[in-house]
Amino acid sequence: MKVETKTKPNLDTDKIRKDFPILSREIHGKPLVYFDNAATSQKPKQVIAAISNYYEQHNANVHRGVHKLSEEATAAFEGARKKVADFVNAGDMRQIVFTRNATEAINLVAYSWGRKNIKKGDEILLTQMEHHSNLVPWQLLAKETGAKLKFIPISESGELRIHVLELEKYVTSRTKLVAITHVSNVLGTINPVKQTIEKIYERSTKNFELRPKVLIDGAQAVPHMPVSIQHINPDFYVFTGHKMLGPTGIGVLYAKKELLEDMDPFLSGGDMILEVDWEKSSWNYIPWKFEAGTPDVAGAIGLGAAADYLNSLGMKNVREHEKELTAYALEKLSAVKDLVVYGPKDPEKRGGVISFNIVKNDQVAIHPHDLASILDTEGIAVRSGHHCAQPLMKVLEIPAAARVSFYIYNTKDEVNRLIPAMEKAKRIFKL
Ligand SMILES: Cc1ncc(COP(=O)(O)O)c(C=O)c1O
Repeated sequence: MKVETKTKPNLDTDKIRKDFPILSREIHGKPLVYFDNAATSQKPKQVIAAISNYYEQHNANVHRGVHKLSEEATAAFEGARKKVADFVNAGDMRQIVFTRNATEAINLVAYSWGRKNIKKGDEILLTQMEHHSNLVPWQLLAKETGAKLKFIPISESGELRIHVLELEKYVTSRTKLVAITHVSNVLGTINPVKQTIEKIYERSTKNFELRPKVLIDGAQAVPHMPVSIQHINPDFYVFTGHKMLGPTGIGVLYAKKELLEDMDPFLSGGDMILEVDWEKSSWNYIPWKFEAGTPDVAGAIGLGAAADYLNSLGMKNVREHEKELTAYALEKLSAVKDLVVYGPKDPEKRGGVISFNIVKNDQVAIHPHDLASILDTEGIAVRSGHHCAQPLMKVLEIPAAARVSFYIYNTKDEVNRLIPAMEKAKRIFKL
């Protein structure tokens, strides 16, 4: 017999929602339901206040001045780095480089590490479920160096086919880099990245210099579940501030210290140097070697405040809340006739992302853009399109999909509003 032990909800959404001013907006005369969190999350008052407070009280350039304000700004900026390092259990905070977003973090690796280490005939192993951000930089690198791209396929249920036999086909002595998303922004699939890394390491040499390096794209993972980088043990791990309650314009590259030490700079100019002469220069210590020019000080402080906010909720609770909401939404959506959901059926195996279509006679019967427009008239914000994963759309044999994606402030009542709105769309399309 199943014993129900849980009496308390994982998150107090009523209380949380009061922290997000935008959630009291009405859209087309209806209370906003924001289901586009995989694209970007909303921001709590605490994050907005941390940014305003920085500009109102401490604004100065960092690492340069000896005056009080500059010292305060530097302390807040480096303090934010420490908060971010702790949030993902990255160990030494010098392994955290601030970038503009996850995309820039991947480009940094492709340029600084890739141009130095990838040669003609080498192989770069990706998966069929990568966001363009974790595909296009590798295409450019492959084109420039003569390396080859390979792709781990996905199964019918939208999971990676990474059992040992399958990996043997893809990880060869020529594989120099494996780049995998932690959580798919389309399928919602949570990839077993730790086990995958272990299997890849088992298959390859023990020599750190020679074994393939592994990059994990954590853009859809870090905001939604506890992530310990030291536990996963990748070489590179990237994520982005704006999807985790932080502001836009700030992202993160984690890289192992020895790799950062060995890599050449990506961008150059002020702040990333130790000494500059007419003809040559020497590089600053890590991580500043990779942070040329004035950084986004306010952005980093905002991201630090976002980490504080999420810590106050507890990332386990965040994950449990989203899992419960996803299970609820999957069940409710299953009652909508002709609705096809992509990705794993089991909420344990997926994050709070649900992509779907209305399909009749094997054809998408309502274009996701039309569906999203009709949902918008009901105040419900969902994403539609290829979700920056055009090759994955080909694998799924669809032109596009609609996507709902949840976060800490979403509720079952909001999911309840989705279902009649979907039925309205079907009526309009006479389905
Ligand atoms: C899985 C994944 N990777 C990378 C990115 C890129 O993030 P950003 O646009 O902040 O660089 C996204 C954004 O949607 C994503 O979902």
